[in-house]
Amino acid sequence: MTQNYRITLLPGDGIGPEIMAVAVDVLNVVGKQFDLQFDFQEALIGGAAIDATGEPLPAATLETCRNSDAVLLAAIGGYKWDTLPSHQRPEAGLLGLRAGLGLFANLRPAKILPQLIDASTLKKEVVEGVDIMVVRELTGGIYFGKPKGIFATETGEKRGVNTMVYTESEIDRIGRVAFEAARKRGGKLCSVDKANVLEVSQLWRDRITKLSVEYPDIELSHLYVDNAAMQLLRAPKQFDTIVTGNLFGDILSDAAAMLTGSIGMLPSASLGASGPGVFEPVHGSAPDIAGQDKANPLAQVLSAAMMLRYGLNQPAAADKIEQAVFQVLEQGDRTGDIISPGKNLLGCRAMGEALIHALEEK
Ligand code: IPM
Ligand code: MG
Repeated sequence: MTQNYRITLLPGDGIGPEIMAVAVDVLNVVGKQFDLQFDFQEALIGGAAIDATGEPLPAATLETCRNSDAVLLAAIGGYKWDTLPSHQRPEAGLLGLRAGLGLFANLRPAKILPQLIDASTLKKEVVEGVDIMVVRELTGGIYFGKPKGIFATETGEKRGVNTMVYTESEIDRIGRVAFEAARKRGGKLCSVDKANVLEVSQLWRDRITKLSVEYPDIELSHLYVDNAAMQLLRAPKQFDTIVTGNLFGDILSDAAAMLTGSIGMLPSASLGASGPGVFEPVHGSAPDIAGQDKANPLAQVLSAAMMLRYGLNQPAAADKIEQAVFQVLEQGDRTGDIISPGKNLLGCRAMGEALIHALEEK
C-alpha cells in the first residue's frame, strides 16, 4: 500500500533552491521504489520570505510546517539582508521555526567517508574512521535567553546583552536524547560545557551527571568547550557522541563538520517531543556561489535521507539514498568543494543526475 507523506519544502536563499531541487528529484525516485508518495508544499522562509512578505517567518509558513509530516529546509541568509536588525534578519526565521515547532534536539552527525579523506585539511591518520554525533540543544541557551537586546545606558553608551540560561528540565530532556543516541552508537557520551567559569554550565554538568545513573551502560565524560575544540582537531577519534548547549553546539558542529572534508557533506535533524522534525544541511546559503550551479547538493540529499530515517521511519529508503551518495563518490564524482586531483568535477545539477542514475541502476 502506498504511504502518503506531506512534506513542507523550505528552499530559502542562496544555493537553497538549487540543492533542494536535487533532493526533491531524489525523493521522487526513491518514493517510487519504496511505494512512498510525497505531497510537497513549498513555503517561504529567510530572505526570500522577507522580500515577499516583509517577515523572515510568515505565519502561513509555520502553519504549513505544523500541518506536515516533516519539513525539509535548505539554507537561509545572504549579504542583501545582513544589515537588517537581528529580529528582521533571515536567521530570525530559522530560530522562529525551531522555537515554533519545539525542536529542542539537533542531531549533527560528522562521519568521514573513505572517498573524501583526501579532501580533509587534516592528516589521513587523524581523520580516518571519524564518526561523531553532535547532539546540540536547539531552543534554549544564549540564543533564546532573556534579557536580550541592545540598550542605552545612562551615559548614552550602548550595552549589548544576551543571557545564557538552562533550566533543569531543558538539560534533562536533551541529555536523554543524547544518552539514547549514544546507546545506538558507540556507547560513549562526552558532555561539553564551560563549568569552570559559567554557573549555567555547572548546573548542566550536575544534571548530566545525575542522569547518567539511568544509563549505566554509557561511558560519560565531560570536557570544557575550549578543550573540546582542541581535542576535536587533535584526536577526533576519541569522540563518539557529544552533547552540548546551543552556542557551543553551533561552533563545535562546524568544527566537527570540517573533519569530514567539507561542510557541504553534512546533514542534520532537528526534533521535538512530538510533531514534525526539520531536516537541513549544516552548511549555510553560500551566497558567493548561488545561482552558478556550483553547489554541493549532497548534504541536502543526506538531509532527505535523515528525514526518511528519523522523521518518517523509512530506514530502507534512507539507506538507499545514502548508498547512492556513497556510489557517486566511489565513481569519482565531486563538486568543487570536495574535488581532488583525478576526480570528475560536476556541477550541482550534474551531481543530481549522477545520483538519480545510481538510484535507478540497482
Ligand atoms: C546553524 C546556523 C544557525 C545557528 C544560524 C544560521 C542562525 O549557524 O544552524 O548552525 O546559529 O544555529
Ligand atoms: Mg552554525
